[in-house]
Amino acid sequence: MENAENRTPVLETRSIEKSFPNGSDWIRVLQGVDFTLESGQAVAIQGESGSGKTTFLNIISGLETFEEGQLFWDGEAIVNQSSSALAAKRASQMGLIFQAYYLLPELNVLDNVIMATRLLGAPRPNDRERAGKLITRVGLHDRMNFSVEKLSGGERQRVAIARALMIRPNLILADEPTGNLDEHTGDSVIELLLEIAREEGTSLILVTHNNGHALKTEKRYQLHLGKLEIITDEL
Ligand SMILES: Nc1ncnc2c1ncn2[C@@H]1O[C@H](COP(=O)(O)OP(=O)(O)OP(=O)(O)O)[C@@H](O)[C@H]1O
Ligand SMILES: [Mg+2]
Repeated sequence: MENAENRTPVLETRSIEKSFPNGSDWIRVLQGVDFTLESGQAVAIQGESGSGKTTFLNIISGLETFEEGQLFWDGEAIVNQSSSALAAKRASQMGLIFQAYYLLPELNVLDNVIMATRLLGAPRPNDRERAGKLITRVGLHDRMNFSVEKLSGGERQRVAIARALMIRPNLILADEPTGNLDEHTGDSVIELLLEIAREEGTSLILVTHNNGHALKTEKRYQLHLGKLEIITDEL
């Protein structure tokens, strides 16, 4: 069996610093964030509103630049600038899930999921089959050709989960994916997300305000005063 300790982390940040201008001043949102995510690991990031969780995810995914520090995807140093090369790399390695779903309203469920492969070049013969399997896996087999506008919030988030997995990402970033859902629906979406990530061997970072959801992951962190801290079980 492969030894996890010898494997390259799927993601690593070292001493990341990020500030935003605030009038004549600066808000120092991230003040030296060190983070390592092992292959296949599922972790949660918590923290107060405004503590920098979304900013950190945006930096990790290369959507946002940073002033200091280093970022590695699968051991490869990511140059700190947004570029189309970086976008293509992200599209081939990462699945993103947001609170607001961001599905394309004019497309049906199947096409929304297949869309994830669009930045990867020519359509591949197995794309439709893969999309169909994922849609079935998230429980929406009978909604395959439905317009996404006719779906409930929980159903839309299931489509977003299928879309995120479509490219067989090595990492999924989910930013408060249950923020718009009622408690019961939210719980079932998180169960499903964690289960599928495990089945597919995909690493997962779940940003959440929900303690119960965070506790279902392997490790919990919180962003606090610009640093990422591990949360130990409070007994
Ligand atoms: N583009 C921006 N320009 C200026 N300030 C910003 C920008 N993006 C974020 N900020 C500020 O950075 C801080 C962190 O924001 P961020 O969205 O990362 O917080 P969060 O932890 O995700 O909060 P929430 O739980 O409410 O989603 C906030 O004070 C926010 O106002
Ligand atoms: Mg946020």
